[in-house]
Amino acid sequence: MDIKQIVAAEPTGQSLEVRAWVRTFRSNRFIALNDGSTSQNLQVVVDFERESEALLRRITTGACLRIKGDLVESQGKGQKVELMATEIEVLGDADAEEYPLQPKKHSMEFLRENAHLRPRTQTFGAVFRLRHGLQFAIHKYFNDNGFFMVHTPIITGSDAEGAGEMFRVSTLDPKTPPLNDKGELNWKEDFFGKETNLTVSGQLEAELFALGLGKVYTFGPTFRAENSNTTRHLAEFWMIEPEVAFNDLFDNMELAEDCLKYVIRYVMEHCKDDLQLLHDRQQEEEKSLPQDKRAMPLLEKLAFATDNEFVRCSYTEAIDILRNSKPNKKKKFKYLIDEWGADLQSEHERFLVEKHFGKPVILYDYPANIKAFYMRLNEDGKTVRAMDILFPGIGEIVGGSQREERFDVLKQKIAEFGIDEESLWWYLQTRKFGTCVHSGFGLGFERLMNFITGMTNIRDVIPFPRSPKNAEF
Ligand code: 4AD
Ligand code: MG
Repeated sequence: MDIKQIVAAEPTGQSLEVRAWVRTFRSNRFIALNDGSTSQNLQVVVDFERESEALLRRITTGACLRIKGDLVESQGKGQKVELMATEIEVLGDADAEEYPLQPKKHSMEFLRENAHLRPRTQTFGAVFRLRHGLQFAIHKYFNDNGFFMVHTPIITGSDAEGAGEMFRVSTLDPKTPPLNDKGELNWKEDFFGKETNLTVSGQLEAELFALGLGKVYTFGPTFRAENSNTTRHLAEFWMIEPEVAFNDLFDNMELAEDCLKYVIRYVMEHCKDDLQLLHDRQQEEEKSLPQDKRAMPLLEKLAFATDNEFVRCSYTEAIDILRNSKPNKKKKFKYLIDEWGADLQSEHERFLVEKHFGKPVILYDYPANIKAFYMRLNEDGKTVRAMDILFPGIGEIVGGSQREERFDVLKQKIAEFGIDEESLWWYLQTRKFGTCVHSGFGLGFERLMNFITGMTNIRDVIPFPRSPKNAEF
């Protein structure tokens, strides 16, 4: 039986066996045991007079044990049941002198350096069980709404975002690279006979499927070689990208809002214990901060996102708000907003969400030149049907758009952006044959994880983070 089932069972003195790891062992009598199935520990009571000194010494934090015992009502407070041990076997020792995790509070940096042991801590146990619950909720949402999941390729020959932030995939020997007549690297001799890279987004391929299967989504790893060492960026992250034929930009916003609210409600209902633990942890961490520096308590914040209508605000309106805002006038922004066309930085996004509107915000109709080539050009000729969803504490959590479905306009945009048309011949062809209005978006899975768990660094919600100069494990 899992500890999750045991701690919920009626204690009738029944005999049980568990295999799990020691969190703490105190007074030579009480073992807090955890097998990862739940955030709750099982209290095991040891009769130290029955056990040898040698065995007791091996019950240390991190050790793996097999214990047989009788489940009884707990005498102490804090738990309903406890296991009276009748047989203890040490399956795997953990030398207390050497084991990196001590029964005390460790810094997040330290735990990141020990990411191989993080799953054994309370906090990360909760985070990664939630990660599972959340990805399940996402698949359930789309499945229940008639979407088909498409596995888009990881290795591609195109740049979906046109931003040039790609990791090259090659089997050429860097010591003896094949050269062509011009003395340049000859990609024809590479594995795929051309330049290839890890995908930055599955969108373009998802579009091809939406124009055949109607409603599709991808949920896969994406890779960005942007040199951003921040708490919001990873070089390898997971993205959910739905794509829907016949949806315009406003349908797209509705889908994104509905999806976000559904998955947040789902984890609030199905991952209660772990959310409570993270909520309590946040309250504990912030106890010493003055009232106005504290973040909104986690559970309150989640309810706030599901119970409020997301604000819809055009880029042009947002620029007006920002231009006239206090931090802009008092020159508190690092990047001051003075004219239409400026790209919004995370400080601006956070001002709009956290200070101005106090609710999740959907910004739309951005200037064409700060957005990707595939977004549908508006009648004004200078804005595109793009939308970003901004969340408190996170900033951009979703980026999406209505796609340019008109062949001539798309062809021209590709040229204007200096993209090699040849690499996108298949994409352009869908605009020639049976094209239609369609839209989609990308939801950053780890940014959503940050929001839901209240963890403040994106590296703490993915098992093994990849960031500049860091690919350990
Ligand atoms: O805004 P982005 O770049 O949009 C796209 O890739 C589109 N092709 C999506 C689509 O329309 N199908 O990325 C989408 C989201 C962002 O809003 C953010 O949540 C997340 O992906 N994201 C990152 N998350 C972690 N680390 C990074 N380096 C990220 N870059 C983007
Ligand atoms: Mg974006």
